[in-house]
Amino acid sequence: MTNPPKSPKRKVLFVCLGNICRSPMAEGIFRDKIAKLGLKSKWEHDSAGTGDWHTGEAPDRRAQQKTKEKGIDISDIRARQIRSKDFDEFDYILAMDISNRDDVIAKAKNATQKNKVTLILSYAPQFESKTVPDPYFGGDEGFELVYQMLDRAIDEFLLQQHDKE
Ligand code: 4NP
Repeated sequence: MTNPPKSPKRKVLFVCLGNICRSPMAEGIFRDKIAKLGLKSKWEHDSAGTGDWHTGEAPDRRAQQKTKEKGIDISDIRARQIRSKDFDEFDYILAMDISNRDDVIAKAKNATQKNKVTLILSYAPQFESKTVPDPYFGGDEGFELVYQMLDRAIDEFLLQQHDKE
């Protein structure tokens, strides 16, 4: 018997520190956009943290509230830590800030794995900041900025991906 054809899906992993604020928001925004664009059959997505403190937890209440305000439910997402097989499974690993990116790159085993890792805001050069600021220790306004940055960056990421087709 021959093996089934390899999945044509592209796979994207969003990574932050705790996987309870920025990266689950990114995953929820991405999931919402691909559903609205009719691209669900083309993508797989997940999110992870570089740390393991929040493993198994739902997103932070403020992250859930912010996305809910925008019509996006992320209550089903559960935190997990990035693992070595992610580097083989995912095509794109999009990090929220420089320290997340460097921590992820430090776990990569070779250049192919390293080359999958990018700062998510490299897709949104209109923001002066290269990094999505960690909103965990700040106020609710931090979550609006995170939402705005991710919304723009994910639009541009998808545009670049599907422009090539
Ligand atoms: P995230 O935010 O990386 O966007 O999920 C954080 C969540 C938790 C912690 C730090 C950042 N923490 O220190 O527990």
